[in-house]
Parts: sequence; C-alpha cells; structure tokens
Amino acid sequence: MSEINQPPVEQPAEANEPGAAGRPGVRRRMLTGDRPTGKLHLGHYVGSISNRVKLQHDYECFFIIADLHMLTTKSSREAIEQIGPNARDAVLDMISAGIDPEQATFYLQSGLGGAIHELYTLFQSLITVPHLQRLPSLKDMARGAGKAEMPFALLGYPILQAADILCVRSQMVPVGKDNLAHVEITREIARRFNHEYGETLPVPEALVGEVPTLVGTDGNGKASKSLGNAILLSDDAATVRRKVKGMFTDPNRVRADVPGETETNPVFVYHRTFNDRPEEVADLTARYQAGTVGDVEVKQSLIEALERFLAPIRERRAEFESRPGYVEQLIVEGTERTRHEAELTLREVRKAMGLASSWNRLRRKAERHRG
Ligand code: TRP
Repeated sequence: MSEINQPPVEQPAEANEPGAAGRPGVRRRMLTGDRPTGKLHLGHYVGSISNRVKLQHDYECFFIIADLHMLTTKSSREAIEQIGPNARDAVLDMISAGIDPEQATFYLQSGLGGAIHELYTLFQSLITVPHLQRLPSLKDMARGAGKAEMPFALLGYPILQAADILCVRSQMVPVGKDNLAHVEITREIARRFNHEYGETLPVPEALVGEVPTLVGTDGNGKASKSLGNAILLSDDAATVRRKVKGMFTDPNRVRADVPGETETNPVFVYHRTFNDRPEEVADLTARYQAGTVGDVEVKQSLIEALERFLAPIRERRAEFESRPGYVEQLIVEGTERTRHEAELTLREVRKAMGLASSWNRLRRKAERHRG
C-alpha cells in the first residue's frame, strides 16, 4: 500500500528534552507496542501496524516490546526464552511493513532497568484496587490465561502501562479497543499526579485503529496465530496461496451459479481490506451476488492482491535480514535511548513529589556530621 514508501522526516533535536514535547515546532511523542508473542499477521497489520506506519511521520515514535506485561500472565521459562526471538520477529515485521528504522525507537521493556519499576511503584498510590478490579480487560486476560484468581501482577498491568506511556512523556497512544481503558487509567494517573504535585506529566490521548479486528481465514472470530487462521506478514508466496485456497467463503453457497453472500464472507472481507483495485472488488462482488462467478476466480484474484501487498514487505525483510545483528542493534540502541528518557522523567517525578529534596536533606545532614 502506498503509505509504505514515505520519505523520512527530519527530527527536531529539542524533542528529546523533558518538557519539550508540548512546545510549538516540536514533534509530539507517540508510544505504542505489544507483548512479544511472535510473528505478526494481517490482523495485526489492519488493527495496528498500518496506523503506526501512517502516524510515524507526524510523531516521534516509541515502540515498546512489553515483555514485563507478558509476564503478568505468562511467566514460564519457555515463555521467557522466547522473548528475544519474538522481540526480533516483531521489530523485523514492523520495519518490513514500513516503519522507518532510522526514525523510530524500538525498545525492550525489561531492558530499561530501574526507572520504569520506580515509576510503576510511585504511580500505584494514584489508583485504587476496586477501580482495577472492575476492568473487563484484566478479567478477560486472567480467564484467557486460565487463571482462576487474579494475579497481583495482572492487577497492576494498567499502572505498568501508564509507567510505559509516561516514562517517555508520550502524548499519543494508538491502541486496540481492549487497551482503551488502560490509556484512560494513564490519563487519570497523570491528572492526579499533576493535581497533587504540580504540572509535571502530559495527559496522553488514545487513538483507536480504524479496523480493529480482521476475521480469520476460517471465518471465525478474529485472525490469530494460535488458532492457525491467520496469514503472516512473513509468509512466502506458496504459503499465502495455500492459505487463501483453504479460506472459508459463503457456507450456504453450494454452486457457483447460486447468489452468494459478500458482507461477512472472509474472502470478500480480505478483498475489501487488501485489494488495491476497488473496481475489481466491485466487479467480483456484483458477480458473486448474482451467482456468476466461482470461488476459484475470487480466490485467485485475492492471491494476486495479497501478493501485490506482501511483495514489498518481503523485499524489505530480505534486505534487513541480510544485515546480521541489525535488528538486535536497533533494539539495544532504542532501549538505551528510552532508558535515558525514563531516567529524566523519574528525576522530574521525584523532584515534583518532593522525594528528591527530602532525600537530599537527609544526605546533606549526614555528610555534615560525618566523622
Ligand atoms: N497492553 C499492550 C498489549 O495489549 C502492550 C503495551 C504495554 C502497551 N505497554 C504499552 C501498548 C504502552 C501501548 C502503550 O499488548
């Protein structure tokens, strides 16, 4: 799609300073990201990646690989062993899909060290337990992970997310519907903090993607790698062909000369979402509804449309993969940069709360009376 090949935009140096993010002429910051669960698929693309690609030039972007958040429901050694490879896959998918690696900052949450944990702790005073207990997103995650009781860490999930967002002083947070309540909590934390300790933190806005969910190739619920009904951004041409040929269509249509349904029919949903030739989609839709086109032709043209969409992504992937250590370097440099930002924010937060001065008074007195 056309948004993929956009030229990089010059980044103003002042954007790095604390407090600079709101100044005129300084690009506002955006933070978003995912838990490291593996390779991304077309559902991720329409739900979030396309939005990130579009927004990347309007904002200074941070992309978190939220492994500490993953640990709130998945903390086995096997899951932890996968963090590194999954983080690499996710970043590779994003830069292949069109996020400019020269401009964006990618970071591994657990690589930040102290500052994020300290912000998390300090923000805990600003939200109540019943408020967190009421969130459907947390109940869903607990249930999804097969937990009969709410893990303590999971209850704190939105507060940790607030620490992520506020540690880089992000003003824009593109998320899926399920995360909207967490950004709302972040706003509440920032407002309460500013009210209690003085204007320190920006109150971020949430932005919900246009097409939040993509139906699976089997017509069920939503595309998901674990359900095996998703086309991956990294699938090769033969795999895409096989998956499209196996896609569900209109279950009530027994023959090609019977009028078919196109609204919920997954093949047509994919056509409308990915086919860059709207006349072709309109023509196939009309003929399908009239019972004058078969599934084979409709699928063949979807295969071709997906190839037009995926080929440039594959090309960029091959280019990035030919540079050993490149993705790892991006993550490490991005994590160091974000750590620096988080430390600046923490310093401001401690100062605003008065923690810095009470500690300094103690320390100065101790020094004065030493030996
Ligand atoms: N909660 C997000 C998810 O569902 C991941 C995440 C963690 C996040 N920290 C964030 C998203 C900060 C946006 C901003 O996977």
